Amino acid sequence: MEKKELESELVVVKNDNDPMDEMDELVPNLPQERSWEGGRLCLYSNNFWTWVKFLRPILNSQKYFKAHDTDIIISTLPKSGTTWLKALTYSIVNRNNYSINQSPLLISNPHDLVPRLEFQINQEDLINVENTNSAGPRIFSTHVPYHLLSNSIHKSKCKVIYICRTPLDHFTSLRPFLLENEFENDGEPPLSLDESFDMFCRGIYPYGPFWEHVLGYWNAHLRNPDKLLFLKYEDLQQDVVLYVKKIAEFIGLGFSEEEDDVIKGIVQLCTFENMKNLEVNKTGIFSGNIIEVKNCSFFRKGQVGDWANYLTPEMKEKFDKIIEAKLQGSGLKFKYSAKDI
Ligand code: PPS
Repeated sequence: MEKKELESELVVVKNDNDPMDEMDELVPNLPQERSWEGGRLCLYSNNFWTWVKFLRPILNSQKYFKAHDTDIIISTLPKSGTTWLKALTYSIVNRNNYSINQSPLLISNPHDLVPRLEFQINQEDLINVENTNSAGPRIFSTHVPYHLLSNSIHKSKCKVIYICRTPLDHFTSLRPFLLENEFENDGEPPLSLDESFDMFCRGIYPYGPFWEHVLGYWNAHLRNPDKLLFLKYEDLQQDVVLYVKKIAEFIGLGFSEEEDDVIKGIVQLCTFENMKNLEVNKTGIFSGNIIEVKNCSFFRKGQVGDWANYLTPEMKEKFDKIIEAKLQGSGLKFKYSAKDI
């Protein structure tokens, strides 16, 4: 085994003749574009845009992660409810290990309790990472599209929970997050709102296109609903108790009738207001192998329909036409405002 430092400071482990080494030749041949915050994106297999610097960890996780039958994988497009879903799932799984007032969520950001396969686990550990911060089943997260998940996730009996969000709120939440955090800044200035939106409409942004990501998981859910639970942020906003119960049942840890107060406690612990105001989420820093993010930037407004404060009716109309065509025949639809839920 040879350790190699990349310019990105990511330390990857390579085996002799490791096919991953082909990536060094691959990247310059991939189509590239500027990301909204000024970073560099490349287009990888089947229409998937990612930062150049993220491609290697993504492919490492795909190649090396070995899922256990009991694992829970939380998969999302960024800014779709990941933090909330992590907090809820972690609390459901660990409800008999910690009382609500002793929950590790009170002192840790959900992203530290539910690690991301691509960034928070060393490549050597992906094969058999110890149980993380959960005393129950292992819980991991990922942002990769369905077709790039590790084969072992597909083959094992592990459960996948996907959450997505109405696309215009996803855009509205993602843009400030990228500008604030600049995951890959090679000196290029950020794009304007109009330019970013234009690229969003063309599917060019980290983890885009939106429609490819959601349809990959949506179709997988239709094929095998027992394997993949498909959730929408707006539905959780409408009735989170219902979805806490659904999630628990889906992972085989359904609540008993006597546990109504436990459900209420979990829901209350994980509310946007409560989590945003915890000291750890006001002042802490989340650190993955190649990224560092202020915990407070995971908590912005937590509202449905905030896009209307930033985007014009013309922008919505333009995107509506695109998304309607892309989702046509799929049965998948999104609600656009708090009035719709
Ligand atoms: S990330 O970076 O991908 O993990 O971001 P993600 O958590 O997917 O999305 C962030 C948006 O979710 C809001 N948020 C919440 N909403 C409801 N309840 C809770 N507990 C919660 N935590 C975070 C967060 O504010 C982001 O949405 P916007 O619209 O930007 O406020």
